[in-house]
This record gives sequence, C-alpha cells and structure tokens, in this order.
Amino acid sequence: MPRSREPKNLVNNLKRAPDTHVVVLAAGQGTRMKSRVPKVLHRIGGRTLIEHVLRSASSVSPDTVTVIVGHGADRVQGALAVRPNISFAVQEPQLGTAHALQQAEAALSGRTGTVVLLSGDVPLLTGRTLQRLLEVHRGSEAAATVVTATVERPYGYGRIVRSDGRIARIVEERDATPAERQIKEINGGIYAFDLEPLFDALRGIAAQNAQGEFYLTDLIAIYRRRKLPVETLMVKNAEEIRGINSRTELAEVSHLVRQTKNEELMAAGVTLVDPTTTFIEADVQIGPDTIIHPGVTIEGTTTIGAACEIQGNVRIADSELGDRVTVNNFCLIVGARVADGVAIGPFAHLRPESVVGEGARVGNFVELKKTTLGAGSKVNHLSYLGDATVGARVNVGAGTITCNYDGVNKHQTVIEDGAFIGSDTQLIAPVTVGKGAYVGAGSSITEDVPAGSLGIARGRQTNIEGWADRKKGK
Ligand code: UD1
Ligand code: CA
Repeated sequence: MPRSREPKNLVNNLKRAPDTHVVVLAAGQGTRMKSRVPKVLHRIGGRTLIEHVLRSASSVSPDTVTVIVGHGADRVQGALAVRPNISFAVQEPQLGTAHALQQAEAALSGRTGTVVLLSGDVPLLTGRTLQRLLEVHRGSEAAATVVTATVERPYGYGRIVRSDGRIARIVEERDATPAERQIKEINGGIYAFDLEPLFDALRGIAAQNAQGEFYLTDLIAIYRRRKLPVETLMVKNAEEIRGINSRTELAEVSHLVRQTKNEELMAAGVTLVDPTTTFIEADVQIGPDTIIHPGVTIEGTTTIGAACEIQGNVRIADSELGDRVTVNNFCLIVGARVADGVAIGPFAHLRPESVVGEGARVGNFVELKKTTLGAGSKVNHLSYLGDATVGARVNVGAGTITCNYDGVNKHQTVIEDGAFIGSDTQLIAPVTVGKGAYVGAGSSITEDVPAGSLGIARGRQTNIEGWADRKKGK
C-alpha cells in the first residue's frame, strides 16, 4: 500500500462502525436438564453449547466479550480458559435473565456502542444472523432489536405480543393468557441493545411474574413506555434459535447438527452408507471418496484423508488418518496418527500417541500404546506393543508382547528395521532388537539382540521315546 493512502485510511478507521460488545448469559442452573454439569457445558456435535455460541459471536468481531457465569461458574470458566479475550462476570444468586445482564454493567462501564446479547443455551444461531441483527439494529436506529421466529409449537418460549404490527411486549409462557399462548411468534432470547439507555432501563424491571424472577423480556414494554424504538428480526429458519432446556431438546438439536454435518460431508464427496447411524462431530474433516459404513463414530479433531474405507462399528477420536487407509470392523482409535495406505483391524485398539507408518498393517486383536510402527511393518495378530519404537519392514509375530511395565516404571522397547519377531515372544523392556535380527518363537527376551543375530530364549525340547506306551503299561 503506497504511503500517500495512509491519511485516507485513518479517516475510514475513525468512521468505522460503533463498538460491538457481546454478552452471553450462562449463569442459570438448567434445572430441567437434571444434571450436575452446568447446562452450557453439555455438548452437541462434540462442542459445548457455550462454545457453539462463542463461535457464532466471533462473526461480528466483537470489541469485548463478557460471559455471565453463576451456577458451576468455576467449571464454565475453566472450560473457556483456552479462549483468549473473554471476561467473566459472576451472577450470584441467579435471579433471572435481566438480573444476569445487570452483572455486565461494570465490565461495560465507560463503553459505547451496541450490546449483542446471546443465550448460552441457544447453540445453532449462525454468524450470518448475528451480522443481520446488527445491520437491522443499526440501520433502523432502534434502541433494542429482538430476534424472533414463527413456529408451529411455541410452547415454552416467550411470545411476541404486537400492536399495530409493532412489537409491544414479550410475555413468558407461564404468565401468558390462553389467547397469548396461541401466538406463534417466539422470542429467540437474542437481542441487540444500544448501550446508552440499557442499564438504566434494566433497573426498572420488577420480579412480578409466575417465577418471581427478573425477566429481561420485560425490557421491551419499558422501552415502549419510554418511547425508545424497538425492532424485530424474524429468522426464517426457526431451528437457529432453538434453546436447549432438557435432555430431549439436547438430543433433538444434536440430531439436527449431525444431519447438517453429514450433508456437508456428502456434498464434499464422502460416502455415508447409512447417514442415520453415522455419528460425525462438527470439527471432523474427511477427504473425498472415503466410505463410512454404518455405526461409525468419528469425534473431536479427527481428520481422515481421501479414498479411505471405515468399516462398521468403529470409533475414531482426535486422530489423523492419511489417504487410502482401511479400518476394519470394531476398532477403537484414539489420539493416533496413521499414514497413507495402512490397514487396521478388525478389533484393533490404537491408543494415544500411536504412530503407524505408511503401508503398515495392524491386525486383529492388536493394541498399540505410545508406539511407533515404521513403514511397511506388520503386527497382524493378538499382540500388545506399548512404549515401543518399531522400525520399517518389521514382522511382529502373533502373540508378541512388550512387557513395558515393571510395576513401578514404564520402559522402552526398540525393534530396528527389518527385524523378525517370532510368535509368542515377550520382549522384557528395556530391550533392543537390532537391525535385521531374528527372535525365535516363544522367547522371553531380556537382553538386547544384536543386529543380524538370532536371539532365542526358551526351554529346550526333550523327546522321551516310548514314554506314552510305557505309561499305559503296554
Ligand atoms: C428465555 C426467555 C424467553 C425466550 C427463551 C429463548 C426470559 C425471561 N425468557 O426463556 O422469552 O423465548 O429464553 O430461548 O428471558 N440465565 C442466567 N441467569 C439467570 C437465569 C438465566 O444467566 O438468572 C441464563 C441461562 O443460563 C440461559 C439463558 O439465561 O443461558 C436463558 O435462561 P433460561 O432459564 O433458559 O430462559 P428460558 O426459560 O429459556
Ligand atoms: Ca432457555
């Protein structure tokens, strides 16, 4: 950028949009969840509810983010510790949504601009809707803008009461008259507020309702009385503003998130043989032409390459699989890295920090833990390799066990390139089998086997001729 343009940019910066402050209400107990876990820490698609909310909030590039915590405050703050630039305000006791927002007053004192108020239990709201909320709010110069939707089953939500087409007030389900309960336009619990009149108006709210709580929704009638303009933004897709208040709603919204993820994957070229029995969390990435069979669960930060085949009843979490990987039925893969062209299973268990090199094979009833298996190596049957470094083109015979634990400490086993471990071998760590060495079947190896040699450690066989006939007295 040429220097001469700088002053103009400066002017543009000075005229930029007013500040945006996000406040998230997350102090409530979530009584209807019947849980010891704070409601906003329940998960949908692998992410906590509050994580969903904060991700959509980031789309309005907020200047400040304040989360109101109360019930289980330590746990909620702990879960969000990884996110920078969040401040917390504690609401204790929890006296309702208006009282919750009041707790943000100190954090926002001296600030100007717009408050975007989000509910920690409304996870599907899109960033696009929040951007539109700000556009509508600022474009119409409203003092408050309420996100609404029209739904067939409004039960449980606050209803939008209009007069002459304009929003007059919001009435909660429990306080609504039978006629008001017929209203199908609901309050999404998502708002934009001008900061200036907000906290003064909040002080006008009383707890005169069925629940004896300070309802934020009462603010609308107060604004109308004070002649402060109130707008609404009606979202077309009512699913976006679904709140989670019960386990049933958690399951229903999880289902929606799962469907959306499945559709995205299929649109990007992934075959899901039966999407209804496939559980793929929101952050998972999968390459084209990969085939996922029924009953597969893929979680966390997992990435899977192209042209893989994941057979039925496999669970993969926080792992990285390359291209053309085959995972046979009934495998559990957690925190592992698997290179291109590997075949795993059936019935294999890859535990954290396992690394499987290109073209390697991990067969049935094999468990790896903190083990690196080099390219082209094979552990095909009934083996446990823990704390081991296995080179390339190694053949590990059936029933091989690294005895890595002496009851106090864990020890390393090293098997160098091209070695051959006979079946039913115990490698008593720490121990090294050198390059190209052989270990005789049935050995208990306690000392290093030098490169190129044969290590054999088992009782010698004795054959006693005629023994059987003598025993039978013949
Ligand atoms: C609220 C709205 C309702 C709206 C619905 C949308 C009120 C009074 N009602 O009802 O009109 O249709 O959301 O989902 O606002 N919270 C606190 N402190 C409290 C109470 C609640 O932080 O003292 C938090 C909760 O943790 C939750 C959010 O505020 O994240 C909403 O509270 P909740 O009790 O779920 O309100 P609803 O009954 O769903
Ligand atoms: Ca709610």
